[in-house]
Amino acid sequence: MISVKDVSYTYMTGTPFEKTALKNISFDTAQGEVLAIAGHTGSGKSTLIQIVAGLIKLTSGAVEIDGLTVADKKIRRLVGIVFQYPEHQLFEETVERDIAFGPRNFGLSEAEVSARVEEAMRQVGLEAGLKNLSPFELSGGQRRRVAIAGILALKPKYLILDEPTAGLDPLAKENLLRELFGTVKRSGVTIILVSHNMEDIARFADNVIVLAQGEILFKGTPRELFAREEILARAGLEPPPITQLLRKLNIDEQALTLDEAEKIILKRRL
Ligand SMILES: Nc1ncnc2c1ncn2[C@@H]1O[C@H](COP(=O)(O)OP(=O)(O)O)[C@@H](O)[C@H]1O
Ligand SMILES: [Mg+2]
Repeated sequence: MISVKDVSYTYMTGTPFEKTALKNISFDTAQGEVLAIAGHTGSGKSTLIQIVAGLIKLTSGAVEIDGLTVADKKIRRLVGIVFQYPEHQLFEETVERDIAFGPRNFGLSEAEVSARVEEAMRQVGLEAGLKNLSPFELSGGQRRRVAIAGILALKPKYLILDEPTAGLDPLAKENLLRELFGTVKRSGVTIILVSHNMEDIARFADNVIVLAQGEILFKGTPRELFAREEILARAGLEPPPITQLLRKLNIDEQALTLDEAEKIILKRRL
């Protein structure tokens, strides 16, 4: 379990540029859940996940992961973090070498490294035949998957994704989300998904935390959140288009997916 207790964080303390990015943040993850962190740009999402992953030093409050503090180097094996636009960090000559980079650094045997590369490629839906290509011969969506596979090959128990679909075309985005929240989730990994896309949250998150100006405005299920228009408005977020459509039709029921909306609308027409 990731347990965040009363975490606050201020950038450039004591300077004229001082900026409080997080205020009294507390939450726990449940095993195997997808926990979304939603919020407008500048609400503190990236700061929060970097603190959770131990990349920004805590100054106030506490973070524990499976009972270890974030200062403990052992958590690096537990937590995998995928930054925004992770494909910008690809640097090896081949897809295989890029994905294998982390596991090789862990000192695993070559047989284990190969097995992990194959499995990670399968998990993100990359064909094995792409292994020997340069990442630069791939499409943007495929490069993103290579970068994510490199993190999955470390077999993290907790996977943190910062806006994983930002900048992808709709088809690439859809494929990536399906793989991540199908294959990867089924393998039991707990996922923290940073997103301001309410549609993705509606479809894939078990729970959601809404941040606004560094504070938690809401914690609950996506369904509960989309019933709270005032919270979304305060956070500067829009409900998913499907939810908005039902409201426009004056239908007082809630749908998170197209299928649910279709059932509700068809039922009314009969
Ligand atoms: N390295 C930094 N130095 C100073 N201020 C920062 C830094 N990184 C982020 N901030 C500020 O902290 C706040 C939260 O930023 P961030 O965590 O990046 O939000 P989000 O990921 O939700 O867009 C913003 O006001 C941002 O300008
Ligand atoms: Mg961010």
